[in-house]
Amino acid sequence: MIIHLKTINGVKIQCSENENKLLSINEDISISKIIDRELNQMRSVILNDQLVYPKLFYTEYFHLCKNEHASIFKNENIRHDITIMSGNLAGIEFMKTYGHYHEILEGTNHAAPEVIEILHGNAIILLQKPERLVSDKPGVKTIADVLDFGNITEVSLFKLKPGDLFIVPPYYGHTIINQKSTALVFSTLISAKAKTIYKGIYDYKGASYYIIKKNAKQVFVQNPNYKNVPKIKKQKKWSYNNIMDNKKGSSYLNFINNPKNYSWINDPDSINWEQFA
Ligand SMILES: [Fe+2]
Repeated sequence: MIIHLKTINGVKIQCSENENKLLSINEDISISKIIDRELNQMRSVILNDQLVYPKLFYTEYFHLCKNEHASIFKNENIRHDITIMSGNLAGIEFMKTYGHYHEILEGTNHAAPEVIEILHGNAIILLQKPERLVSDKPGVKTIADVLDFGNITEVSLFKLKPGDLFIVPPYYGHTIINQKSTALVFSTLISAKAKTIYKGIYDYKGASYYIIKKNAKQVFVQNPNYKNVPKIKKQKKWSYNNIMDNKKGSSYLNFINNPKNYSWINDPDSINWEQFA
């Protein structure tokens, strides 16, 4: 079965229901890089590292845009990526992204924030906030200097559906999970300068919880490799989303039409993040 997505300003993307591959894409679209996230790489963060299937978890398409919009993305220094994840289970665990943090954005005092939009399917987003360390290291700091990755102070979970927009605030580790049997497609807007940090997830064999299917139910299994993991807060509303005017709809189009509304992506110091916590 083929599904058709018309979410990006009339750009038609097709992907099959069960596979995470774009089958066709308009000629007027540019993509800078495509990365397949395969089992061998995911083995370090999944519950059962002996799995032999599925071989492919998800595929990421970086800097995806219509050619006519390329200059806007370049001028604003923002990147638009799309991820397609299949709906297969990985053993008893639901399909998920590797999980990562973002490095402190060059020239700012905050880790890079990110906007996520669900284009097709349903997603669970699991966020984890590590303990903040008092660093006496002078000069430019990295998140590894200011966060204790093994000591998690907050775990929040959200269920997202197509059209939902979501802000990942600075310093939150995030994993996106597909608990459905159909494909999940989501897009992200982030600074083109942003660096992705996997170490804080890799060192603990995944995020703070694994989400598994047991007796047809969703069960949360705490990851024992962390020093401290609090209970999951299942949240419906996320106050950080108040940073954006639009809570639903195409973030891509919204950005193209009002790029200045997204200037905070490259200037996270302009937002009082504490106010939204
Ligand atoms: Fe991210």
